Parts: sequence; C-alpha cells; structure tokens
Amino acid sequence: MNAAAEIGVIGGSGLYALLDSASEHVVSTPYGAPSDPITIARVGDRRVAFLPRHGRDHRFPPHKIPYQANLWALRALGVRQIVAPCAVGGLRPELGPGTFVVPDQLIDRTSGRAQTYYDTGAVHVSFADPYCPDGRAAVLEAARPVDAVDGGTMVVVEGPRFSTRAESRWFTSIGGTIVNMTGHPEALLARELGLCYTSIALVTDLDAGVEGDHGVTQEEVFRVFAENTERLRSVLLEAVTKLPERRTCPCASALEGLKLPIELP
Ligand code: ADE
Repeated sequence: MNAAAEIGVIGGSGLYALLDSASEHVVSTPYGAPSDPITIARVGDRRVAFLPRHGRDHRFPPHKIPYQANLWALRALGVRQIVAPCAVGGLRPELGPGTFVVPDQLIDRTSGRAQTYYDTGAVHVSFADPYCPDGRAAVLEAARPVDAVDGGTMVVVEGPRFSTRAESRWFTSIGGTIVNMTGHPEALLARELGLCYTSIALVTDLDAGVEGDHGVTQEEVFRVFAENTERLRSVLLEAVTKLPERRTCPCASALEGLKLPIELP
C-alpha cells in the first residue's frame, strides 16, 4: 500500500469522500490526529490524498477542526499542493447560491485559533497573496464548465454562529465578497509548511446583510451544498490533473532563508 501523495484535497461540509478505490491511512502528528484517516488514490497521473475537514461524520465544528494536524499530516504524506473546497455565504447579491468562486484574498476575523507552527524564533512568512497563483489557474480552468468567478475576498469568521446583519454589511463594506468559517488558519498553516493552497468556494446562501435576504440557516447551507456536490466533485477531479507537476510558484520558496525552529516532515 503506497502511503504517498503529491496533492491533497481537504473536503468541506457535505464532501466527505472523493476518491474511488482508495487506500486508507491513519496518520499521527505532533499536533494530534487529523480530522480523520486520509484516503489516497491515483487520479490520472497524480497521487491524491483526501481528508474530510470536519471528519466523515462532521464531528468537528469549524472552531474545533485540528487544522495544524491536518496540514502536517498531508505534508508528511508528501503532499505539496492543496485544493480546498468549502461552503461560503455570498456577500454580494450577484453571488447567489450555486455560484463557484476561486478567491484571491482573505480577511481573518477568527479569534483564539492556533494559527502558527512557529512559537519560538523569528519566522514571519509572507501572506500578502494567500492563495497559490498556479493552483488558482488550474482550478479556474477545471471550473470552466461551472463558470466559476475568478477572484474574491473571503472573510473568515469564528463561528459557529452565522453573522448578524450589521456584521455582514460591514464585511461587504470592507471589501469582502464571500464569508465562511474554515478558510483560516488553513491557508496560513499551508503557507507555513511551504505548501501551495487553492480554495474553491461554493456559495450556499446569501449572507444576512445582503438586501432582501431572510438570514442564513444551517439547513439551507447543507441542502445547497448537497445539491452541488457532483458539480464540485467533477471540478476537483479535473483540477488535480491540471496542477503543475513542477512547482515554480512563490509558495514553493516561501520558507527559503527562514530559520525554522522545528523540522518539517
Ligand atoms: N458557510 C456557508 N455559508 C456561510 C455564511 N453565510 N456565513 C459563514 N459561513 C458560511
């Protein structure tokens, strides 16, 4: 059984499996266990690892997800490129349910989450562009059939509650286009491990501040995600075959020149 993979997919709410004929691997890390065992299979010429972010039974709410263990475990298996689907709320009326967005920016509104591997020494990674440019290009190409929106700013809230109308209007006013609860610190921890990270967001609802909206419900988020799982799955399986085999993007050299206080797997 080959427990090595180059590409990782971290599935969000409603995407608890991706790969056929996969082998399953229990991985332990210095940060505890990841959300679940990781499944690995070949997709085209690439070896892909899949990890359900919330666990298969969705036992981890967004603020309890073992983000550090998840990214560490994927890197330990050899993963260097990550595609990360997630459910989001739209902060603009034109981004209605069923829209796919490949964001290019992020605003962190979480609090109290462990968001670094480097608690000693001076390790300050660049995070101006949180997503991999080459990963974004690959995902956008794969997402042509679903007409994905190119670019957007993801506001990541602590949750698990949804936002008030006032918060939601404020997120829009500061430049947010979509809102979710899991995009951070996942993207940052990937950068801290020198991994490429690309998000593909599926809009499941219009957030509470969008004019005429009734306020978000959990039922709506899960229902719309379920309605779009097959579209998402086909985009993901196509996207992994389009990621470059050799990394020449800035993420690949993100740790160059930094003196890391810990050894990476
Ligand atoms: N995930 C899906 N929809 C959301 C919303 N409106 N706010 C935060 N996270 C979400």
